[in-house]
Amino acid sequence: MSQESSGVATVGVPKEVAEGEARVALVPESVVKLKQAGYDVMVQSGAGGGYHSDEAYEEAGARIGLDARQVYESSDILLKVQPPSPEELGMLHEGKVLIALLQPLINTDLVLALAERRITAFSMDAIPRIARAQSMDVLSSMSSIAGYKSVLIAASSLGKYMPMMMTAAGTIPPAKVLVLGAGVAGLQAIATARRLGAVVEAFDVRPVVKEQVESLGARFIEAEPMEEAEAAGGYAKELSEEHQRRERELIHRHVREADIVITTALVPGRRAPLLVTEEMVRDMRPGSVIVDLAAEAQGNVEVTVPGETVVVNGVTVHGPLNVPSTVPIHASQLFSRNISTFLLHLTKDGGLHLDMQDQITRDTCITRDGEVLHKPTLSVLEQKGMATQ
Ligand code: NAI
Repeated sequence: MSQESSGVATVGVPKEVAEGEARVALVPESVVKLKQAGYDVMVQSGAGGGYHSDEAYEEAGARIGLDARQVYESSDILLKVQPPSPEELGMLHEGKVLIALLQPLINTDLVLALAERRITAFSMDAIPRIARAQSMDVLSSMSSIAGYKSVLIAASSLGKYMPMMMTAAGTIPPAKVLVLGAGVAGLQAIATARRLGAVVEAFDVRPVVKEQVESLGARFIEAEPMEEAEAAGGYAKELSEEHQRRERELIHRHVREADIVITTALVPGRRAPLLVTEEMVRDMRPGSVIVDLAAEAQGNVEVTVPGETVVVNGVTVHGPLNVPSTVPIHASQLFSRNISTFLLHLTKDGGLHLDMQDQITRDTCITRDGEVLHKPTLSVLEQKGMATQ
């Protein structure tokens, strides 16, 4: 069936195959919404992992597909969390629609393969940061979970209390937490550390976050005025060498005093900025803990090993990957709400209707009719000298 035909379209939900991925793109509550909107829904048996049974999906109105092949073959629109594996790509035939977290600026080979297979692909990480798209903003939902969990990871490997404790044996001062990068993840890390009673300070290159940091009860570390650090869409820009050096000097003074450092700084499409050098880590007190949430983008900390925990001079440095998947129930629920709201945004009269004049649809559409449409991805492909046809 063509993606925009007038018949009832089937939405397919395969089981995620990436190692360590415990999320599912759609939970039963969202199946109900898609059925109401006129879609048929097929979920691969076992896709809900240990949290949502096949029966729960059936009760919500889904059909259960026995294996991935059946789901891919029977569906017009595939909903996924992770980008398709080579095997999954082989099951995506011309005319199918794919909605997932594709990370197109990094996965350029995948983008070209999707275009070649004439797949209409949408990437949930390309949802614009505008008010009317907030309910579809997967990056915010997942960053918020990661920020929360990072503090729990840090607290459980810190050999200290987080809150101040007045005991018969004397008073214990609260732990000092430093958060670098105060976007969605950083703000949630601040809030979580504050709930645990820590004293928190935070730094970000975008001075506009000062008020948000302070409203959560943390201290904002003021830098001397620097170059404009905010790019279009509210994201950060990559800083000049001189600016980065000055920033590291400032950070060094605060890292030295911290029990916990949580780093969350990202610049879209680039490796994460290096904020904490090995020298700074060696300057921290033994027993201190760092959680580098930017590990997936090579890390904010020089000694981070993505996916591992290392100890440097008595300082524990965690470089966790796919942190949202470690809170799978709520991560899946939020992802599911975001992706189903997005699909309903693309829906009119019970079927898919793509209005490319609409900013949300236009910005998220990565490939269509054999072409790469996503402008930021096209620039990356051009820089890499990769052909788009
Ligand atoms: P992100 O995950 O891309 O980056 C995390 C943080 O790292 C950002 O605050 C960034 O300024 C900071 N950073 C980058 N380089 C740094 C450096 N060298 N030193 C220190 N900090 C550095 O950002 P995220 O969390 O995705 O948010 C980006 C923006 O989008 C924010 O302004 C956020 O408030 C806004 N936003 C807007 C939404 C909407 O209107 N729908 C929804 C969600 C976020």
